Amino acid sequence: MLLCSSFNPEGLVSLKIITTSDGSHSLLNETLKESYHSVHGALQESLHVFIKKGLEFVSQDRDVPLRILEVGFGTGLNALLTLQHAVKHQQNIHFTTIELYPLPEDIWSALNYPTTLDLADEYREIHHASWGKDQLISNYFTLLKICDSIQDARLPINFFDLIYYDAFAPSKQPELWELPVLEKIFGLMKRGGTLATYCAKGQLKRDLKSLGMTVETLPGPPGKKEMVRAVKM
Ligand SMILES: C[S@@+](CC[C@H](N)C(=O)[O-])C[C@H]1O[C@@H](n2cnc3c(N)ncnc32)[C@H](O)[C@@H]1O
Repeated sequence: MLLCSSFNPEGLVSLKIITTSDGSHSLLNETLKESYHSVHGALQESLHVFIKKGLEFVSQDRDVPLRILEVGFGTGLNALLTLQHAVKHQQNIHFTTIELYPLPEDIWSALNYPTTLDLADEYREIHHASWGKDQLISNYFTLLKICDSIQDARLPINFFDLIYYDAFAPSKQPELWELPVLEKIFGLMKRGGTLATYCAKGQLKRDLKSLGMTVETLPGPPGKKEMVRAVKM
């Protein structure tokens, strides 16, 4: 069982808060030389890729909760925006998120998302929620944070309506974009389920198609030409 209290026990990775083009913060992992979001606008990217092209695409009136799986909890920005959407649209959402390297409080609490979105209490609750069990954050939003790798995490199959695939870029973490992990993700999705990601690499699209998904290339967020949305047939 992983202990989820420390991002960086050996002091090998350094993180720096950066301000992206839309004024919202992100983090730069200086070891990987990779940011957690687009430098052209973290908030704009999350809103466009995951909320507009993902959540709004699958949202529907229904009594049973919409089940979302996020790969890479990171700063919690996607979780916060999803909660905001759930409350605004009175849409029941169960949000499972996987993170191998949870951030320490001194980092996430310095980010400007809660003030920008006026959701300070909700942001704190999302981060303080225990790992490994369902937490009701609002009437419409239940959160399950899992501290594990997507490769090893035990997750229910044929279960999720929507996947936010938000791993670091293929150039930095190629193993998270290769067929074994994509096959696992495919198995976790319900038939008719949707996957949204900022990545639009040709190999990813070919792999998703080979698994039996219909793949759309959509306009990307500011600063990025394209993104991908795929539906399990
Ligand atoms: C692009 S960031 C995610 C940004 C996040 N969705 C947000 O809203 O801030 C990628 C995240 O994946 C995490 N990660 C890296 N390897 C992982 C793995 N094997 N399984 C799960 N998460 C992983 C990283 O620690 C990082 O937090």
